[in-house]
Amino acid sequence: MLKKVYPERNSDDPSRALLEKRGDLYYPTKEFQKKAWINNGKIYKEAEKAPIKFWEKLAKEIYWQKKWKKAFLHKPPYFEWFSGGKLNLSENCLDKNIPKLKDKIALIWEPESETETANRIFTYKELFQEVNKLANALKKLGVKKGDRVGIYLPMIPEIVVSMLACVRIGAVHTVVFSAFSSQSLKVRLQDTEAKVLITADGYYRRGQIINLKQNADDGINETKVEKVVVVKRAGNEVLWREGRDFWFNDLTKDESDKCEAESMDSEDPLFLLYTSGSTGKPKGILHTCGGYTVQTKVTGKFIFDFHNQDIFWCTSDPGWITGHTYTIYSPLLNGITTLLFEGAPDWPTPDRWAKIIEKHKVTIFYTAPTAIRMFEKYGAEILKKYKFEKLRLLGTVGEPIDEAAWLWYFNEAGKGRCPIVDTWWQTETGGILITSLPGIGPFRPAFTGLPFPGVRFDILDEKGKSCSGEKEGNLVILPPFSPGLLRGIYKNPEKYLETYWSQYGKNVYFTSDGAYKDKDGLIRIIGRVDDVIKVAGHRITTGELEAAINSHFSIDESAVIGIPDKIKGEAPIVFAVYKNDKNKEELKKELIDKIKKEIGPIALPKEIYLVEDLPKTRSGKIMRRILRKIFTGEELGDLSTLANPEIIEKIKNLM
Ligand code: PRX
Repeated sequence: MLKKVYPERNSDDPSRALLEKRGDLYYPTKEFQKKAWINNGKIYKEAEKAPIKFWEKLAKEIYWQKKWKKAFLHKPPYFEWFSGGKLNLSENCLDKNIPKLKDKIALIWEPESETETANRIFTYKELFQEVNKLANALKKLGVKKGDRVGIYLPMIPEIVVSMLACVRIGAVHTVVFSAFSSQSLKVRLQDTEAKVLITADGYYRRGQIINLKQNADDGINETKVEKVVVVKRAGNEVLWREGRDFWFNDLTKDESDKCEAESMDSEDPLFLLYTSGSTGKPKGILHTCGGYTVQTKVTGKFIFDFHNQDIFWCTSDPGWITGHTYTIYSPLLNGITTLLFEGAPDWPTPDRWAKIIEKHKVTIFYTAPTAIRMFEKYGAEILKKYKFEKLRLLGTVGEPIDEAAWLWYFNEAGKGRCPIVDTWWQTETGGILITSLPGIGPFRPAFTGLPFPGVRFDILDEKGKSCSGEKEGNLVILPPFSPGLLRGIYKNPEKYLETYWSQYGKNVYFTSDGAYKDKDGLIRIIGRVDDVIKVAGHRITTGELEAAINSHFSIDESAVIGIPDKIKGEAPIVFAVYKNDKNKEELKKELIDKIKKEIGPIALPKEIYLVEDLPKTRSGKIMRRILRKIFTGEELGDLSTLANPEIIEKIKNLM
C-alpha cells in the first residue's frame, strides 16, 4: 500500500493545543496535563510495586455494601477479586450519583432520522426511575437473581434501561447485537437458557425499517424463552402471541419507580457476552460483579479522563463489549453524560458523525479505525465547517490503526489539538488494559502504548521466553491479571482452559494477539495469531464462517481466509468446494444468504471462489496459508508437503 504523507500540522489555534510533538513521540501539553486525573508517572511505580494493593486502593472508588475479605485469590486457571465483597453495579451507576447529580443528563439519545423530533434525554433521576420500573416488571415476569435474560435491542435508550434493570435485580444479561441473525440469537438463547427476551418491534437502519420482532420470533424457537418484552420503536406491524408477548410500556407504566438493588457478591455472575471462538460455536464470556465494576469505573476515569462536564460519545453498539463498558457502564459510574446514536455515522450524509459532535458538544469521541478510514475516504473538505470546539480527547479501539489513519484522525477530527488514546482490550478483558494515559503520554501513532497501571503484560516467543528488543511475540497477561478479566466460558470449562491457559500454562493468560514493544516500552499490536479475523473491528472466526458455508447442501468443504482491506481492516474470502450440479452464480447468492441467516450481514465475504478442491497436506490439513498467498500474489514457496499441488493452478485461474 502506498504510504500516505500528511503535512505536519499544528493546531488550528496553537494556544488551545492539547498535544505536542517531541521527537517522534507526542505528549499532552501542560494545559491538558494540569487538568488530568493522572498527570505523572508515580502511579506506574506504585502499581508495579504492589499491584494487588494498588487495585484495592482503586476499588475504593466505588460503593461497596460490604467490604471484600480477600483482594485476590488465585487457584490457576481460576482467580477471584474482592471476594466476599457485596455491591450492585446499577446502584453504583444510579443511586450513588443521584444525591449530587439527579438533574444532570445521564443519557442523550440521538435518533437516526434527523427530522424525528423525539427528544429523549434522561437525567440521572429519570434513568433511575425507568430502570427501577423495568426491574419491578421483570420481577413480576418471574425473573430472579441469577436468571439469564436475553436482550436483543437496537441502539435505543431501552437497551440501557434493560441492561441496568437486569443488573439491578441480579439477573445476568446477555445482549445479542441487533444485526445478528435469528440463528445467532437462537444459539445464544439456547446456551444461556434464558426464559425472558427483551426486544423491539423494529428499528431504523439507513432509512429502512428492520423487523426485529420477526427475527426474535424465529430466534426463540427451540429455546426456553417463555416471555418476550417488546419495545415499540419503529411502529411496524408485528406478529403477536398473547400471553407470551408484552409491550415494554404496558409492563412498566404503572410500576413503582423504586426497586431495591440486589446485594451481589463480588464474584456473582454479572453478564454473559458471546464472542467468536476458534470453532463454529460462539463462547459465552462470563464477567462478574466486583472486578468488572472497579475496572470499568477507573479505566474510564483515567483513560478518558472523565470529568464532570464531559459529554462522551462511544460509537459502539451496546451489543459489543465496547458498548457495554464504555457506551454505558463507565460513563454512568463516573457520573458523566453519555451519548447513544441509533444510526450509522455516515447516514444520511457522510458528515453525520461530525454534526452530532457539534450538536451535542461532545468532548470525548471514541470509535474504531474502520470508521476513521471511512471518514477519511469521504475527504477532509466536508469537515472544514466543523470546529469541534469542545472536543478534547479522541479514542480508538478494536483493530490496529496505521500511522496514516492515526494522523488523519489527529489532524481532521482532532483538528491537530487532541490526544488520541489507542486502546487495546478484548471481550475477555472487560475493559481497556493497554493504552498510554492521556495526561502523561507518550503517544506514538500505530502503538497502543503502555499497560494500564497494575496490569502486568509480557511478550513471549513460542517457547515462553520473554522477547527482547523489538522482537515480535505473543502478548500475555501475568498474575494478578486484572479485576475485570473473564472468569470463565459459560458451561464450557474445557474451552476456557484450552483457549487462554494452555499455551503457556495455567498461570499465564494468552491473548491470541501478536505484539512487540518499542524502545520506550510502548506496545504495538500486530493482530490475531489464531483464526479470528477482525472485519470492521467485529470479531469473526474463519471457523464459524466455514461452518455456515458447509451447512449448504451443495458444499463439501470450505476454507476462509482474512485479507487486508483498505476500509474494513480485514475482509473474509471464501474458497468453497462445490458439488458440480448447480449454477455457480446462483450458488454464490445462496451462500451469501446462508451467511446472512446463520451469522448476520457483518460476516459477508468480499469474494467467494467455488473450487474443485482445496490445497491440502497428505494428512488432509487445509493449507490456508497457501490460499492467502495465491490471493495476494505472493511467492508460494515450498509446495512439497502438498498432496494435491495440481489444484494451485486451477485456483489461480479463477482469480
Ligand atoms: O486483536 C485485538 C483487537 O481486537 C481483539 C478483541 O476483539 P473483541 O473481543 O471484539 O474486542 C474488541 C473491543 C475491545 C483483540 O484481541 N484489538 C482490540 N483493540 C485493539 C486491537 N488491535 C489493535 N489495536 C487495538 N487498539
